[in-house]
Amino acid sequence: MTMDTAQHESDNAEDSVTNQGFPSRRSTPAGRTRPGCTTTSSAAGQLRGGPGRGQEILDLSPDVIMGARANRDFLQRAVRFLAESGVRQIIDIGTGIPTSPNTHEVAHAVSKDVRVAYIDNDPIVATHAGARLLGTGNTGFFLGDMRDPASVLRHPTIGELIDPDQPVALMLVSVLHFVSDEQDPRA
Ligand SMILES: C[S@@+](CC[C@H](N)C(=O)[O-])C[C@H]1O[C@@H](n2cnc3c(N)ncnc32)[C@H](O)[C@@H]1O
Repeated sequence: MTMDTAQHESDNAEDSVTNQGFPSRRSTPAGRTRPGCTTTSSAAGQLRGGPGRGQEILDLSPDVIMGARANRDFLQRAVRFLAESGVRQIIDIGTGIPTSPNTHEVAHAVSKDVRVAYIDNDPIVATHAGARLLGTGNTGFFLGDMRDPASVLRHPTIGELIDPDQPVALMLVSVLHFVSDEQDPRA
């Protein structure tokens, strides 16, 4: 477990993010469906986008559960391939609300030596990550933004888990489409 798991605050605290990147209040803005909720929970056969939102998404796109499952299957196949190929370090950006098996569980089924740094920019994901992604000694999570790669790479959790002189796999599964043309993804 890295230092980032050390601090959790109650649901009654002020709406802010702790200096270790964890949210101090759990809330989803009214009317907003969080992408991390949608993909991982629909892969599990349900949608948790908020009251009525899950059904609304299913009505608009009945194939969404099949697509989410295919996405998770791909992620698991890719991680298994990486671990079986000898990669022992993974940076997984756009973690999403964790579902099982997640990246570190798939990797650890091949080798317990694989170290996984999870990053997401959604504080709600951070809440769930603290409970479900950490505690193996080889995993860490922090709030970060893929649009600012320098700050991601400078984060202390990367320093603890990732040796830049060894092979590193970078995972950006089902996340790049969140960078709009206006945000200049090529920059
Ligand atoms: C659809 S989920 C994908 C979850 C997981 N990678 C998977 O494939 O099942 C996308 C995740 O990317 C996160 N995300 C979106 N934009 C991001 C950004 N700029 N930096 C980091 N994470 C981002 C969202 O918060 C969400 O949790």
